[in-house]
Amino acid sequence: MQEKEHKYYETIGNWDFDQIKYKTEKQTNWDFYEKIKEYTNKDSVCLDLGTGGGEKVLKYYPEVGKIYATDFSEEMIKTAKENLKAYPTRYVEFMQMDNLNMIFPESTFDLISARHTVIDAKQIYNKLKDNGILIIEGVDQKDCWELKELFGRGQAFHDKTPISKIDFNNLKDAGFTKIELTEIREDEYYETEEDLLALLLKTPILDDFSEEDNNNFTHRKEIEKELFNKYVNEYKTEKGILLKRVLYGIVAKK
Ligand SMILES: C[S@@+](CC[C@H](N)C(=O)[O-])C[C@H]1O[C@@H](n2cnc3c(N)ncnc32)[C@H](O)[C@@H]1O
Repeated sequence: MQEKEHKYYETIGNWDFDQIKYKTEKQTNWDFYEKIKEYTNKDSVCLDLGTGGGEKVLKYYPEVGKIYATDFSEEMIKTAKENLKAYPTRYVEFMQMDNLNMIFPESTFDLISARHTVIDAKQIYNKLKDNGILIIEGVDQKDCWELKELFGRGQAFHDKTPISKIDFNNLKDAGFTKIELTEIREDEYYETEEDLLALLLKTPILDDFSEEDNNNFTHRKEIEKELFNKYVNEYKTEKGILLKRVLYGIVAKK
């Protein structure tokens, strides 16, 4: 278990960004939930790993046979069960579980999804049925690079290998036969400085956070005002304050 990261998510207790005002302009067309839809049908048994407060699973997952959704944070699962009440027709079972210690029987799932969370390729391979599909969306090293360069730190800033490559190699080693890795680029425009600051204070974007070493994680509760102002001055546009997101998508077949 990644103790520091676990504590951070327990303290936050949800992954809800509805209070933050921003717009997204997609620069590429790979979409996580569209991919899940493409590879499932009304009978599919699915597992969503690191589901947070279930905000996205409940809102965006396609109609399938059954969704299991897990997270290692008790607080997140509490929030998810609370959020489920607003979706009485959704067939989702939320459970507390560590992605690195999955306790499902082998060959259980038609599809496993993991959005912005840690994975263990071998365990996922084991829990998928034959020909089962894994769909990942992750935050890549170059995400918010202009901001990270200015602050001289941030998520994966000092890592030697980007997490997209680490995942790709681990999936290959685990035995996945067909692996497609796609770069995803999105421009986000934050309405005000407060909105951007709220994002930076909630997420690990500017944290000392290594993807290569899961124990290297310290969440900062303050952002240096001077550097923040410098970024805002440089990236303020008519549409809002620009943040260039760089993510990656993976579709892998067992
Ligand atoms: C960035 S949030 C993403 C939440 C959700 N997937 C989404 O896209 O909105 C990461 C989530 O992964 C969970 N997480 C991190 N490491 C985990 C692990 N080892 N096992 C299970 N959940 C984990 C955290 O508790 C958190 O809820």
